[in-house]
Amino acid sequence: MASSTIKVEIKRQSTPDAPSTTENFEIPYRPGMNITSLLGEIALNPVDVSGKPTTPITYDANCLEEICGSCAMLINGKARMACSALVDKLTGPNHDQPITLAPLSKFPVVRDLSVDRSVLFENLKKVKAWVPIDGSYDLGAGPRQAPQIQEQRYPLSNCISCTICMEVCPQFNDVTNFVGAATIAQAKLFNMDPSGSVLKSERLRALAGDGGIQECGFAQNCVQACPKQLPLTEAISDMGRDVFIQQVKDLFAR
Ligand code: SF4
Ligand code: FES
Repeated sequence: MASSTIKVEIKRQSTPDAPSTTENFEIPYRPGMNITSLLGEIALNPVDVSGKPTTPITYDANCLEEICGSCAMLINGKARMACSALVDKLTGPNHDQPITLAPLSKFPVVRDLSVDRSVLFENLKKVKAWVPIDGSYDLGAGPRQAPQIQEQRYPLSNCISCTICMEVCPQFNDVTNFVGAATIAQAKLFNMDPSGSVLKSERLRALAGDGGIQECGFAQNCVQACPKQLPLTEAISDMGRDVFIQQVKDLFAR
């Protein structure tokens, strides 16, 4: 008979500098639960498996439908989104396998399962991942885009800034300062925008600098782990070519 409780082991940390601890819980099973609803159950009754009162688990979540990108964590050792991770699939048919939860390992822990992912947003600033149009006045209709360009850009626009591609990348570390696949993909997205392309050279020069595209080791973990299936390896290879062309142009422009 299927177990009516779910066993969960959670890595916790009360402050950014505190040592980490592990707490175990047993949560009543309900059909259709995901990891965020399981964490909500703990918040309703924060008592560990031995009956000892504890505090609710801190984690990030907002949209609960894999859109906001905030709930990435390590679930059974794998980086994935808590809101789309279904308990039934993680525990097996009898709900007898424990689920482990831990914060992403490559980002500073804020508390428990919440990490500081601002490095991605700093990297997006470095490559100016935006269309440089400012002001509240009416600029009229934007330039038209060919359907073929729209089709190439649309999958790149699905990035939810979850940082999973960075977590799984062996090159994303303090030694290389690699910006990571998401930033490179967003540079391609905005370089292909008819208005955003005015910053194309600046984006390519940023990607040629410290921690730039040359740090990619083609492990391809990113493309396999991305929850939104962005064509990351294609984006990296296209941007690698464009960065090289920009470097040659800059060489002859001296
Ligand atoms: S590219 Fe994919 S894995 Fe990386 S931040 Fe965007 S959605 Fe997440
Ligand atoms: S809560 Fe928004 S992606 Fe999971």
